[in-house]
Amino acid sequence: MGATVVFGAQWGDEGKGRVTDYFSEQADIVVRYAGGNNAGHTIIIGKERFALSLIPSGVMYPGVTPVIAAGCVVDPEVLLAEMDMLESRGVETGRLRISPATHLIMPYHRALDEVLETRRGALRIGTTKKGIGPAYQDKIARSGLRMIDLLDPAGFLAKLETAVADKNVVLQGAYGSPPFRADAIGEHYLAMAHRITPLITDTSLLIHRALVDGANVLFEGAQGTLLDIDHGTYPFVTSSSPGAGGVTSGTGIGPKALDEIVGVSKAYITRVGTGPFPTELFDAVGDRLVDVGGEYGVVTGRRRRPGWLDLVALRYAVRVNSLTAIFLTKLDVLSGLDVVKAAHSYRLHGEVITEFPPGIANLEASEAVYTELPGWEEDLGEVRRYSDLPGNARSYVEFIEDQVGAPIRWISVGPERQQLIER
Ligand code: GDP
Ligand code: IMO
Ligand code: MG
Repeated sequence: MGATVVFGAQWGDEGKGRVTDYFSEQADIVVRYAGGNNAGHTIIIGKERFALSLIPSGVMYPGVTPVIAAGCVVDPEVLLAEMDMLESRGVETGRLRISPATHLIMPYHRALDEVLETRRGALRIGTTKKGIGPAYQDKIARSGLRMIDLLDPAGFLAKLETAVADKNVVLQGAYGSPPFRADAIGEHYLAMAHRITPLITDTSLLIHRALVDGANVLFEGAQGTLLDIDHGTYPFVTSSSPGAGGVTSGTGIGPKALDEIVGVSKAYITRVGTGPFPTELFDAVGDRLVDVGGEYGVVTGRRRRPGWLDLVALRYAVRVNSLTAIFLTKLDVLSGLDVVKAAHSYRLHGEVITEFPPGIANLEASEAVYTELPGWEEDLGEVRRYSDLPGNARSYVEFIEDQVGAPIRWISVGPERQQLIER
């Protein structure tokens, strides 16, 4: 497996948690490289369901070292709560390692996320309100507080003082929100620090040495290609680089180190939050995908917007990430439909296009052009061999491969570990 990357090929929630869980069995290290606790990854093991928002899903395997690398933003309260939740359910978290360069999500970041969303009105992004955007804003502005700052309490408090004063100018002065107090935040964060600082490690070096020694390293993406700050559907995106490009900047590992780049795609598509969505369904078929697929947010509980598979977007994900393979999830959810549709192109201002167009206005004006394929009745939950899939399901899989130019190497047919077809 070497260095394998797994991330969403769409707008998130493709089933990355279960895919990471699958690869983790062979992994020595599992690394989150971008995002924070805006992610919601579900892992189902037997009767147990685990929802993780920050700690890499690889933590579920005792032999794995989970790593939170430099490109992430960490809310220490969430980190400790997630560690406690796992420990209380018998999952050991002492192996977790955190890069000193990760940025801290502070209480004022959460407050700003809330205020900014409200002020955007109709143009709101539909963020998770976890403070992700404002924390990355401070990182890029070079005014953020980092994990490494927790190792020097006096220095931490001095930087915090300046940060809080600045934020209060905006929060209280401009938006009329209650001010924050640096002393209260400082006390709270330093009280949490004693559990966190022992985990701080040079994770770039840790991963590098492991790769040199021939270890298997899995890079666990959160979010998806269309939520990428540069290559996604801006401004309806998250504030990091969830795709293949984010792996190297987010971990401090060079691009030549990557062996396999796996995009996770659902057999249909969903999106939470606002923004254009050419294949969105507003009818009974959409409701059915939500019901059968259980399409409600892990973090926020929000109903996900459903749609047919968008091959224009998937083709784009293959291109911008150099995907070496696709892991197709939730094929079972499509059982029982008379026809299954997939958009092979868009009609934009009278022209048919097959490449994802730049700019939100173009996406809004794009109308999906579909291929209709015959559906299948059979329940797929027990299928373990590709040749045992109904012929129409295989035709659908092969149509996708043909359209996007990447092999579908794995197909999942249910949420549980063993509900998987390897080709
Ligand atoms: P992630 O954010 O990409 O990890 O995905 P989520 O955990 O937010 O959402 C995926 C949901 O689909 C979870 O509830 C999974 O248990 C479930 N799931 C994953 N793979 C399959 C599958 O092949 N079939 C079905 N029916 N459910 C799946
Ligand atoms: P996983 O890892 C789906 C979306 C939010 C919003 C936009 C910006 O489970 O796939 P943010 O809080 O990041 O500033 O919100 O991005 N979003 C996700 N949607 N799955 C996720 O994570 C997401 N993380 C962020 O809904 O539209
Ligand atoms: Mg999710």
